[in-house]
Amino acid sequence: MNKPSDLTISPVTKYAASHSTGKKLYWTLSDIDDPDYMKAILRLLTVQISSEYNSYQLQQVQPVTPHELIELGYTMRDEATHGIGLCRILRDLGVDPEPIRREAMFGEKRGNVLGIFKVPLDTPYHVGAIRWLGERVGGYQSIAVHGCSYVPYAVWSAKNYLDEGRTHSMHGRDVLTTAIEQGHKDMVQQVADLYYPHALDMFGGNGTPNELEYLKYGIKTWSNNELRRIWIETVMEDYEFMGLRKPADIWQGDRAHYGE
Ligand SMILES: [Fe+2]
Ligand SMILES: [Fe+2]
Repeated sequence: MNKPSDLTISPVTKYAASHSTGKKLYWTLSDIDDPDYMKAILRLLTVQISSEYNSYQLQQVQPVTPHELIELGYTMRDEATHGIGLCRILRDLGVDPEPIRREAMFGEKRGNVLGIFKVPLDTPYHVGAIRWLGERVGGYQSIAVHGCSYVPYAVWSAKNYLDEGRTHSMHGRDVLTTAIEQGHKDMVQQVADLYYPHALDMFGGNGTPNELEYLKYGIKTWSNNELRRIWIETVMEDYEFMGLRKPADIWQGDRAHYGE
């Protein structure tokens, strides 16, 4: 089996030039003079913090090796750091994060919880797949916020990208690659097929009113589909590395089709 470093990384330079926003920057609550901006940044932060506190679900499945247990400990530490960072950002904006956290973790409707978190985590393979595919989405979404006009969120997103998009996702891929080497390729294919469409959905729709508003205010600096495309490119390299069968339509999510 080739090492991933042997694979050619597809160039994404066509996007690289267009992502400085030139928008006004907001450093603290007192800088925010537009109530619509405030509503938009709070909406996105609410989705983000709900996802962070849903990560506790990874603990539902008992790790099968001591190494896995240690990895889970590191991950839970990272997720707590992400959650606490967002709590601070929300408090600085005058919002109590506690009701949002409780709703995300224990609420009946779990209104802001993404579909991928509603897929039952039955086995270590499921955990591996949500980590490999879903946590990579979480990390790549943070690329859109690296240039965020609300500076504390931009700073937060740099660490989130590294933790989710690289460390957590790669750990999930390692777990599944080892499972394939141990003869469980069918099971890995099954969980990849299960999670792939939900992971695509995590990026959000194309050209929705919310997305356009985030881009207008410089809260996000990349569109959902630009990030989705980069995610697809890197995930398809993983499929080849792992010898998995690719989805029949790589743009087909559970909720929508995202092809341009
Ligand atoms: Fe996280
Ligand atoms: Fe994570």
